[in-house]
Amino acid sequence: MIELVDLRYVHLGSSNAKDASKWAQDIYGLEEVSRENGRIYLRGDDRDHNICYFDGDPKDNTVGIEVADYNALDQAANLLEANGVEFKWGDVEGATTRRCMKYLTFYDPTGNKFDLLVRPFTSGRRYFPSRDAGVHWFNHIGLKTKDAPRDEKFWCTLFNLKSNDWIGDAALMSFDKVHHRIALFPTNETGVQHINFQVRETDDLMRSSYFLKERQIRIVFGPGRHATSGARFLYFEGPDGMVYEYSCGVKIIEPEDQWRPRQFPFTPESFCVWGSKPDIPEFRD
Ligand SMILES: [Fe+2]
Repeated sequence: MIELVDLRYVHLGSSNAKDASKWAQDIYGLEEVSRENGRIYLRGDDRDHNICYFDGDPKDNTVGIEVADYNALDQAANLLEANGVEFKWGDVEGATTRRCMKYLTFYDPTGNKFDLLVRPFTSGRRYFPSRDAGVHWFNHIGLKTKDAPRDEKFWCTLFNLKSNDWIGDAALMSFDKVHHRIALFPTNETGVQHINFQVRETDDLMRSSYFLKERQIRIVFGPGRHATSGARFLYFEGPDGMVYEYSCGVKIIEPEDQWRPRQFPFTPESFCVWGSKPDIPEFRD
């Protein structure tokens, strides 16, 4: 089994990387870390970066996930090969771009692109937000799937992911105590479906909901509270139509071995206990 230890980044093609970075700073509240390798790196926590924009196809999304060490990466390569999963070893230039020591790239059965990373960079400087949105942790992603049960099996047998709840076929999966780190949402295309950063408290969410409305940012879901993870949330539209989320209070599962995953129906009530209705295609029944 391939042991994933941390979710590190999303690298996103953008119709205009500079504008995307400006939005991520002025609206989302991230910090721009650097512009190098033809890319713009941003973050919302103390790690090197969590989001990287580059001028390119907005459908070109890569998710970076960390494994423990070089041995774990070699074992992962062996397991991918043994299971017929195509992958490519990264080169020095690619590692520079990803700001890690070593990596390989593979695709899930839907065709989503992932980097498995060894020793991604940590920053010597603490995160300094561009606005006081309360952001403090790059926490999870929603991922598009063309066949949720198939992809859930891929992640939960070949990798150390575990489903902690389901909404219809949508699996909310994790490799640690956080309720979900990768959530699979059925659709007919590939790519990252939404990007989540945790904020400190509900006041941050509500403050941002007014901040976004005043700036005519399209809020697509919330403020609300998820029935599954208990997190309070706010989803809105960012550059190139990507959905970005703030949430707080995500369930931390302890002890993990006593948690029994629950099946929720694919209804608005399963997504929000307060009654907010999603304007997100993958969340609508
Ligand atoms: Fe989310």
